[in-house]
Amino acid sequence: MAALHIAFALAIFTGNAIGVNNGLARTPQMGWNNWNSLGCDVSESLLHDTSKTIVDSGLRDVGYNYVVLDDCWSAGRDEEGFLQEDLDKFPSGMSNVANEIHKKGLLFGMYSSAGEMTCARYAGSLDWEENDAKSFANWGADYLKYDNCYHMGRFGTPKISFDRYKVMWDAINSTGRPMLYSLCNWGEDYTHTWGMSIANSWRMSGDIYDSFSRPDDLCSCTDASNPHCIAPGSHCSVLNIVNKVAAYADRAQPGGWNDLDMLEVGNGGMTDEEYKAHFSLWAALKSPLLMGNDLRDLSASSLTILNNPAVIAVSQDPLGRSVARIRRDLNVAKDKYGVGEIQVWSGALYDGDQVVILLNAAGEDARISASLEEIFLHEGPESSAPQVKEEWEVYDLWANRMDNAIAQKILDAQGEEELSKLFKEANWYNATEMSYKEGLKKKDQRLMGKKIGKIAPGGSLDKKVKRHSVEMYRLKSVGQGGKRYKMHAKEEL
Ligand SMILES: *[C@@H]1O[C@H](CO)[C@@H](O)[C@H](O)[C@H]1NC(C)=O
Ligand SMILES: *[C@@H]1O[C@H](CO)[C@@H](O)[C@H](O)[C@H]1NC(C)=O
Repeated sequence: MAALHIAFALAIFTGNAIGVNNGLARTPQMGWNNWNSLGCDVSESLLHDTSKTIVDSGLRDVGYNYVVLDDCWSAGRDEEGFLQEDLDKFPSGMSNVANEIHKKGLLFGMYSSAGEMTCARYAGSLDWEENDAKSFANWGADYLKYDNCYHMGRFGTPKISFDRYKVMWDAINSTGRPMLYSLCNWGEDYTHTWGMSIANSWRMSGDIYDSFSRPDDLCSCTDASNPHCIAPGSHCSVLNIVNKVAAYADRAQPGGWNDLDMLEVGNGGMTDEEYKAHFSLWAALKSPLLMGNDLRDLSASSLTILNNPAVIAVSQDPLGRSVARIRRDLNVAKDKYGVGEIQVWSGALYDGDQVVILLNAAGEDARISASLEEIFLHEGPESSAPQVKEEWEVYDLWANRMDNAIAQKILDAQGEEELSKLFKEANWYNATEMSYKEGLKKKDQRLMGKKIGKIAPGGSLDKKVKRHSVEMYRLKSVGQGGKRYKMHAKEEL
């Protein structure tokens, strides 16, 4: 057993040492992107108003710092072959747009495609990488989302796709301006096996859509590790994406993350419980957390999902390891789409804590139980993990969700004075003042959730979980637990 643990630890060390080494995305990036709610409807005023809301609603200070402009911003190339911003949509010019965003303490992301055109058929960056990276750097971009449309057949093997995406990484690097590089090639050509060498994150599925479980022909692949999955598509449900990433959730590492696509929280197609489940899974799987709703009409209930510091602390945990699925039960009640399953996810956190998600994607409420033996399966099978013999405190990470009435007051507040009073009253977690890493070291109560009980040595978690919903817990060892990750601590924490 000891040998196995050491081999595993070494694999993690190596993972930290390689990669793009641009110092970015040591924890999954957080921010906002316009695509899910607004598509091509982009403008300078949209970015201005959105940035203002991100600051005023407290979202910046809970961690969302990238404002990412997606497709449809350009007006083609000039005679020298440089991309021009569309001055009807961005009358002040892109540099000034970036400046305004920077002045608010936020970072600016841009978009292009590794193809002759972008997905919405604007000029693409394939074979123009050096010029375009220079433009992004000159404008002051801090992030590039790089799509996969119109690639002129340059895909089909991992090597061909890797080379095509590496050209832009090298071009960004030569500008000297650090930019978070976010690949969007939908998991084609096994991105999860090479993405971390040239990028900070890589999409692993077709585009998400605003449904929890509905299957759609446009997202025909249900298993991305299947080589016949040739059309990643779009209209992928939350459950479809989660089921695909399960086979390689462990590829997430500081500096390089599986990207499950932008969030749909607040876009209206799911229930509150489904959005909580979506957000919980994205956080625990270490996906980038990019809000995808129109923040100009942010609702209180969306805000209180997006700002839950106990869940975000799992995403931003300095250990940087994803949860893994330890159980999938398909023999349960189906929903109206004929879909139904129950899953248990578990993963290591900083300081020996463990996060557990009980996912009820079945057609009716259910009791879900998970024994310590299952929860710590990845630390040693058949009850061999030392954690199984420990006593654990259980903290519910959603129990202290902010009250919607308080969130509404924050959204309605006029002026900074009233806002800062409300933030104090709400005991807002301010990650700008104290990073999640610091907060976790200090065991800040807001990051722990609410203590709801204990699990005895050899015991189980056993909870009722509503249909299309999750329960999400942080487990803290009462005794000696936590010591075993001190090795990782040296490297990363
Ligand atoms: C967080 O802290 C920063 C720095 O002190 C401050 O400017 C900001 O207003 C605070 N934000 C919230 C939401 O309290
Ligand atoms: C360029 O790559 C080198 C080597 O990986 C790295 O040290 C450096 O930080 C990179 N620079 C930028 C601007 O990304």
